[in-house]
Amino acid sequence: MENYKKVMFEAADEAAKILMEYFDTVFEIGRKKFYNDLVTEVDKKSEAKIIEVIHSYYPDHNVLAEEGGDLHKKSDYVWIVDPIDGTVNYAHALPIFCVSIALEIKGEIELGIVYNPFSDEKFFAQKGKGAYYNDKKITVSDTENLKDGFLVTGFAYGLDVKDDHSLEHFVNFVKMGLPVRRLGSAAMDICYVACGKFDAFWEFNLHAWDVAAAYLILLEAGGRVTDFSGGHYHVYDRQILATNGRTIHDEMINELKKVNEEIMKQ
Ligand code: IPD
Repeated sequence: MENYKKVMFEAADEAAKILMEYFDTVFEIGRKKFYNDLVTEVDKKSEAKIIEVIHSYYPDHNVLAEEGGDLHKKSDYVWIVDPIDGTVNYAHALPIFCVSIALEIKGEIELGIVYNPFSDEKFFAQKGKGAYYNDKKITVSDTENLKDGFLVTGFAYGLDVKDDHSLEHFVNFVKMGLPVRRLGSAAMDICYVACGKFDAFWEFNLHAWDVAAAYLILLEAGGRVTDFSGGHYHVYDRQILATNGRTIHDEMINELKKVNEEIMKQ
């Protein structure tokens, strides 16, 4: 595992150099399926560099990456890559973004790194070996109840085309008088739960590349991750509730369920 870890750090560091070189400069910006779901020239350069590093050591490993999709190599090893999580922030020179790389071996996420080079925040975890922030061991917060919670979430880009009802849940938590933030990078959001800044995160319609590394980091920091009804979560699922694992987790499940039932009645 040590060798995979070295390659993961090398790939993240190389990508980070590209992100820093282009940050707040002029670069090409394209649009994906939804008008404001952006892809920049820098996403593509970062992704190409990450794949180049991985394949220079492990040419047979598969890569599942946000911009290039699944390389479809038949392998027990899948590197799950988001070359910039927080692309819209990056495109507007807002420094909340990161590189996210996870290594899945035979269906299990074994390693994960989330790195924001602008703020010099590097989160890393290895399954069974704890979670780290810039080499310092991290744990989740000890906030017990939802009434004391500091929450973070995100919204999908295509709500103008397809409403996933994420706003109803957001409004419900805000109307409970809770502080809820939206930072624009799911990977950073979850890592901030892992190190105890936030107590809980939820979002609909994320992809494996947004969450795979941060998911492991949070679990290794003592957090809990489920779907919205408390069921088993896998990084390829589209609903994620990621918390410090205290009573707050079940309280949030109850709230999400309550709002879902109200939506069903409409
Ligand atoms: C996005 C971010 C954002 C989340 C979006 C994601 P991207 O990823 O994680 O926080 O709300 O749903 O698509 O496109 O910047 O890699």
